[in-house]
Amino acid sequence: MLTVEEHTSLKDSNTFGIDCRAAKVVTVSDRSDIAQFYARGLLNGKHLVLGGGSNVLLPDSYSGTAILMRNKGLRVLSDTDGKVEVEVEAGEVWDSFVKHCVASGWHGLENLVAIPGTVGAAAVGNIGAYGAEVSEVITKVTAFDKDSGSWLQLDNQSCDFAYRDSLFKHREFIVGSVTFCLSRTYEPNTSYSAVASIVERLGHTPTATEMVAAIEETRWSKLPRPEEKGSAGSFFKNPVVAAEKYEQLKAQYPDMVAFPVAEGYKLAAGWLIDRAGWKGRTLGRCGVYEKQALVLVNHGGCTGEEVRLLAKEVAGDVCRKYGVTLEPETIFVEE
Ligand code: EPU
Repeated sequence: MLTVEEHTSLKDSNTFGIDCRAAKVVTVSDRSDIAQFYARGLLNGKHLVLGGGSNVLLPDSYSGTAILMRNKGLRVLSDTDGKVEVEVEAGEVWDSFVKHCVASGWHGLENLVAIPGTVGAAAVGNIGAYGAEVSEVITKVTAFDKDSGSWLQLDNQSCDFAYRDSLFKHREFIVGSVTFCLSRTYEPNTSYSAVASIVERLGHTPTATEMVAAIEETRWSKLPRPEEKGSAGSFFKNPVVAAEKYEQLKAQYPDMVAFPVAEGYKLAAGWLIDRAGWKGRTLGRCGVYEKQALVLVNHGGCTGEEVRLLAKEVAGDVCRKYGVTLEPETIFVEE
């Protein structure tokens, strides 16, 4: 049944903890609800789809309808030749799904444990951490096309996955379910230096369970737990600059952290913000996290507007000091 709540706070539906009042809120508890919303005209008006609300900056009030994705369920489509194909509803909690996979002996997602949000949002943002990106194991996405009012099946290629980006950030689609191809054999992904040091510390090749525990520990030593401090994880993307720009900065700042990529060099935005003197600084009721400068945090009761101001100050300062433009990874929702 379709229930519409009015003038409801979204404080508990976004990890930043912004107390945003939405004019209307509806909940998707089954994928088929989406076609009903469409039929009722709710998708024609202003609306906002929220998974775990872990990658958005909400305004202080929202005049449209917030759609909360809470559809749950998981279906094994095939389990042959050491590969498991599993379809998962978009509203499943990402971290619980990763842990379910490890417990079931389905591998490939270990390095992505403890990322806040839902399965649907993981595909939308192409989440990544510790040398892994979720698009590496996604085979299919089922999405509702708000223009035609029909469901589409998109294969991996059609999803236009890129660094923290996908087709779903640019088109009028609602992700309903995501299909993953996982492996029955565990091969640790140690390409990221922090993971390589975990393995070195352990002194043996880790099991999937050991890897998950170690990644969780590493992650929470740098990032705020959503239940302790509101944030949206990394607020900015790591910027990519041309080789000449990199050479110029490297000559000036020999300890600057950067990685070569096809288009030039990817710079560590956290390093730039940190060295610009922002780590641990507070502005109003929000600030730059003291353990990881790429994360903006809510120190309690801060508004969306305060975070926007802080983000503008930080990006403006980095641009003045290094001539590098920081783009938010976080999606800004307009009133
Ligand atoms: N650094 C600093 N100061 C800081 C933060 C970082 O000097 O305050 C330096 C670090 O020493 C390191 C480099 O910058 O040499 C990169 O830092 P880190 O390894 O912590 O990773 P990151 O680039 O800051 C990215 C992802 C994170 C992900 C980590 C680990 C983006 C935008 N962020 O952060 O993802 O967990 O790598 O893989 O790509 C997220 O997207 O929400 C997120 C948390």
